Amino acid sequence: MKEYIVAVVGANGAVGEEMLEILEEVNFPVKKLIPLASARSAGKTVEFKGEELTIQELTSESFSENEVEIALFSAGGSVSAKYAPFAVEAGAVVIDNTSHFRMDDDVPLVVPEVNPEDIALWKKKGIIANPNCSTIQMVQALKPLDDVFGISRVDVSTYQATSGAGKSAMDELVNQMQAFFAFKLEDAEYEAFPHQIALNVIPQIDKFLDNGFTKEEMKMVNETSKIMHKQIPLAATCVRVPVLRGHSESVTITFKTEADAQKAREILSKAPNIVVEDDPQNGIYPMPFKATGKDETFVGRIRNDVFDSKILHMFIVADNLRVGAATNAVRIAQKWIELEEAE
Ligand code: A2P
Repeated sequence: MKEYIVAVVGANGAVGEEMLEILEEVNFPVKKLIPLASARSAGKTVEFKGEELTIQELTSESFSENEVEIALFSAGGSVSAKYAPFAVEAGAVVIDNTSHFRMDDDVPLVVPEVNPEDIALWKKKGIIANPNCSTIQMVQALKPLDDVFGISRVDVSTYQATSGAGKSAMDELVNQMQAFFAFKLEDAEYEAFPHQIALNVIPQIDKFLDNGFTKEEMKMVNETSKIMHKQIPLAATCVRVPVLRGHSESVTITFKTEADAQKAREILSKAPNIVVEDDPQNGIYPMPFKATGKDETFVGRIRNDVFDSKILHMFIVADNLRVGAATNAVRIAQKWIELEEAE
């Protein structure tokens, strides 16, 4: 089997580290791994397959000099905007975890369980976009239900972990909790979030737009329709909670036809990479601490609406760094290889 030269941009970031772990776990055909980050990290090391690899500073030459064939980007939108074109020019396929290219008509936006066929469109720009973390876990559950019942509307509230904003944001929660136990919480600093995150919930992720929704909320609206290949009316309320890892979502789905909760459980339990955890009488339902480190999306609290038999409610949880980012990117890369090798 052919092996590939793989670059990870943002290799020592919260998502980048997961990417390295997953590439190793799935025995991805890596000929050589090139860890890239900013000048701040150049010379530091990351571990891959038991070896210490030295991080290189990302430059416009990084991809051509290293003859990179697959470039996984997770270092922020502005870094992707500037450097993804250099990777493409050097002949690599870019799999981009940032929002920068997601709504570009010439860039496929892919969740392999939902629209793997779109990967074939990668040649248009050389880039495949990884959706927003909250969108990925939600559409994995929406797709199989849509196939059977037909979705007419989705309403979702999220409970998003601090790691979605990177390692420094996780540190901010930990530091504030330590300050709380030292009776110094009022002196604790906050930078990653607009308010104190410890012992709080913040109903704002990213900036507010003129329509009253945040950019994060509109990502869920726009990306869901692009991935599902049809306009799905959707409203999201995205909330940051003092959890380190694992996004949760309370989702209300209105269908075109009557939808039975038990039937939905059966459909979801057969869907790829979904685990139904739904025995509330025995305290069994999805929770972020149980989803941490897992590559599946957990669905529970599935129940019919009290007033309308076309409405179901459910709770969806996944590890945002894995399912919502690194795992999805690696699954895209695996499918891309299948496609390349079939040619
Ligand atoms: P660095 O640590 O050198 O800044 P996180 O999402 O956990 O905050 O991680 C972000 C990742 O993106 C880190 O690996 C970080 O490297 C990298 N990164 C941030 N800015 C740049 C940049 N301008 N060029 C290359 N890598 C960057």
